[in-house]
Amino acid sequence: GVAQPSVFGLPLKYVSLVTLAVQNALLSLVMHYSRVSTPPSETYSAGTAVLMVELLKGAISFTIAYLRIENTTTYILPGNASTSRSNPLSRLRKLGREIFRSDCWKLSIPAILYVIQNNLQYIAAENLDAATFQVTYQMKILTTAGFSVLLLHKSLNLSKWVSLLLLAVGVGIVQMHSVGGVGREATAHLMNPVAGFLAVLVACCTSGLAGVYFEMVLKNSQTDLWIRNIQLSLFSLVPAALPIIYDLSKSEHGLDLFHNFGGWAWSTVFIQVFGGLITALVIKYADNILKGFATSLSIIISCLASVALFDFPLTFTFALGASAVLAATWMYNQSAIVLHVGFGRRPPI
Ligand code: C5P
Repeated sequence: GVAQPSVFGLPLKYVSLVTLAVQNALLSLVMHYSRVSTPPSETYSAGTAVLMVELLKGAISFTIAYLRIENTTTYILPGNASTSRSNPLSRLRKLGREIFRSDCWKLSIPAILYVIQNNLQYIAAENLDAATFQVTYQMKILTTAGFSVLLLHKSLNLSKWVSLLLLAVGVGIVQMHSVGGVGREATAHLMNPVAGFLAVLVACCTSGLAGVYFEMVLKNSQTDLWIRNIQLSLFSLVPAALPIIYDLSKSEHGLDLFHNFGGWAWSTVFIQVFGGLITALVIKYADNILKGFATSLSIIISCLASVALFDFPLTFTFALGASAVLAATWMYNQSAIVLHVGFGRRPPI
């Protein structure tokens, strides 16, 4: 097979999964803090943040794609030297042809879905505590499985359906905790758990659909991951600009897109840029099962950090719900491994 890329001798697959777990935990904490540490009237624009993430991810993907692209016209010079790297214009032209190839429109679908998801994430982060957000967001596993069955015609065995049910029960228990219990966290922002929960629900649907769709596009063609990422960012620009235009029409600050856009806002943006790039690598080099496992690890990280940083009350109900989510994730992965080993050729979900 193809040699797996590695970082410092470790397979990129595992490096990207562990990095994703830490990134997920960090994002839910930093995003939550960036939203609730100031009153809503003094907070930054989520729309600007989403647009900045896409611009930065697009620029980084463009740079990587440019460095990776091979020149079609390679002149072999005496002594085996080649001049292919020395012609930036023809490389740019080739890159342009790759980006605007005839199937690039396919990326408009995950692009729109991810923009909706990335905006909803802010509503969820400001209305739920970081740990509840993190646990509820695990329902992505459910929607990813659902869309894989619907779109990729994958089949799930009984053990997987049971683990999905356990996941839903676990998320339900954590929800009871967040709606019933009053957190001790002192925020400048009045939280609305029902709005937060609805935002997570819709974000889970777009996440599942966009993830399955992106994987389908990526694995059904030879086109480079970084070209796909550029296309994804390009198609994100218009939908990402819409909420900003809407906000501007109501805002008293006129054209100031970066009003209140301080260090915490930029930190959220950078963690999201990093997360988007890692997600793309995980979808390419690992798969959705392993991705789900990595993000469930981040539950523990963000839960413990919430206890330490935000005075999050670690109740029995929360612990029970979080344990059910972890057990469900583990069970889902176990059965996938058995399925994969047992019927070697069937792609695991
Ligand atoms: O965990 P989940 O799959 O829902 O998160 C997807 C996140 O990763 C979104 O914020 C999306 O914008 C980003 N992403 C990306 N590039 C990809 C795939 C996802 O930036 N190729």
